[in-house]
Amino acid sequence: MESVQFSSEVKHVKEHDSLSQDVVKKLIQQSQEAKKKAYCPYSKFRVGAALLAHDNTVFIGCNVENACNNLGVCAERTAISKAVSEGCRKFKAIAVASDMSDQYISPCGACRQVMREFGSDWTVYLSKPDGSYLKMTVKELLPVSFGPEDLSMKKVIDIPDEH
Ligand code: THU
Repeated sequence: MESVQFSSEVKHVKEHDSLSQDVVKKLIQQSQEAKKKAYCPYSKFRVGAALLAHDNTVFIGCNVENACNNLGVCAERTAISKAVSEGCRKFKAIAVASDMSDQYISPCGACRQVMREFGSDWTVYLSKPDGSYLKMTVKELLPVSFGPEDLSMKKVIDIPDEH
C-alpha cells in the first residue's frame, strides 16, 4: 500500500516539473523583490512571495505585521489574497524568499492550509537568498489534508436540531 502511494507521488511530482529553469529563476527573483517590501518592524524577519497564476500573471506579496501581534499576515497569504481578489484562483507555483542563508524558508501551517484551499497539486519553491531552492508540492507540504471537497461530505449527514 505504502509503496503504491509512493510511486504515484513520484509520478505526480514529475508531472508538475513543467516550469523552465528560467521561469523558476525569475519567480524566485520576484519573491526576493517582494521581500524588500516586507513590513516587519516586530520580527525583523523579511519574507517575500511570488505567486504564478495559470494565465502566467504573477502576484507578489510580503509579510505585513501588526502592533496587535496575531494580526500579522505572511507573505504567501498576502500574495494569494491579492490574486483571489483579482479573480484568479488557479495557480501553478509560488516562490518564497527570506534572508536566511543557512536554510530554505518554509511556509507556516496556516499558509499551507490556505495554499491547499486552491489545490494540492501545485508547486512551492522554498528558496535561499543565493537563489537556490527546494521544490515541493502543496500536497507534500500538507499531506492528508482537509480541503473544500471534504466539506461536501457534510451534506450526507443530517444533524438533528441544526436547522
Ligand atoms: N512569515 C512569512 O511571511 N512567511 C513564512 O513562510 C514564514 C513566516 C512571516 C510571519 C512573520 O511576519 C515573520 O515571518 C516571522 O515569523
